[in-house]
Amino acid sequence: MVDRKLKVVVTRKLPETVEARMRELFDVELNPDDRPLDTTALIAAMARADVLAPTVTDRIDAGLIAHAGPNLKLIANFGAGFDHIDVAAAGMHGIAVTNTPGVLTEDTADMAMALILANLRRMVEGVRALEQNKFVGWTPTWMLGRRIRGKALGIVGMGRIGQALAKRARAFGLSIHYHNRKPVPGHIAQELDATYWESLDQMLARMDVVSVNCPHTPATYHLLSGRRLKLMQPHAILVNTARGEIVDETALAQLLTEGALAGAGLDVFEHEPAVNPRLLKLPNVVLLPHMGSATAEARADMGDKVIINIKAFQDGHKPPDRVLPSML
Ligand code: 8YV
Repeated sequence: MVDRKLKVVVTRKLPETVEARMRELFDVELNPDDRPLDTTALIAAMARADVLAPTVTDRIDAGLIAHAGPNLKLIANFGAGFDHIDVAAAGMHGIAVTNTPGVLTEDTADMAMALILANLRRMVEGVRALEQNKFVGWTPTWMLGRRIRGKALGIVGMGRIGQALAKRARAFGLSIHYHNRKPVPGHIAQELDATYWESLDQMLARMDVVSVNCPHTPATYHLLSGRRLKLMQPHAILVNTARGEIVDETALAQLLTEGALAGAGLDVFEHEPAVNPRLLKLPNVVLLPHMGSATAEARADMGDKVIINIKAFQDGHKPPDRVLPSML
């Protein structure tokens, strides 16, 4: 239990309602201009804060954590993924880390489904054709995409978002396959009519659509390596709404350019905000600027979770969304 108001430093501009509540509850430093903090500013923030509320755009590695001030006891991340925070180093410094799971599941799964639809049905190419005055009237053989129904979807990582995607994909008539460290409980597999592939390689070689939905951890960095991407069928497409680092982006761009892969739908990139320039030039690729959780509702709910985690910590309780190195 902390008697005084906690000094909370928030690194990016958050939704109005979230910031208003934070002002009531905490001695909060907001970032109204939404200018990302550079390393020096982050170090200074970590030196003066009791709680840091960062986002995916803040790289909080062991070096930075070594500079944390004596009061910093909690890093309450605004976001579900926490691969930008060295959780083990934080733990060794007595700093807890929390995230915001659950509240962005449906929106991110919607985006993965949208990328599958947009890619197979050439939606972005169609929009571009209209904008470029290339629509000269209906044509029997123009802009033919591919039917969604009947395709095989391989989900890499069958956690919350993977399962939410599977539900949507089933409604569109795709068959559900997945690779995970462990099979999901029987009742979930049954409900989703999902086939487990212990071998990622074997699954990749047989799918029409592959969707990346696992977290980025040391074990999943470049999980979809050049070698594995080459196992995919030439007509297959790859969708990624998880983290860019899970896919070897250079190899992916190369295979797409060669026509060894039919297409991709990417919401995340290996070196954000940079995007491999080769990807930007390809017609068979749908690219989005990390918008998976970008709904007003999700961002408000994520803010609420950050507040609940900080408040629980302030009141001497265990924050509900604590993340641990063992979760990696
Ligand atoms: C968030 C995300 O907006 O929550 C995540 O892991 O990838 C995004 O949807 C971002 O992380 C905010 O920090």
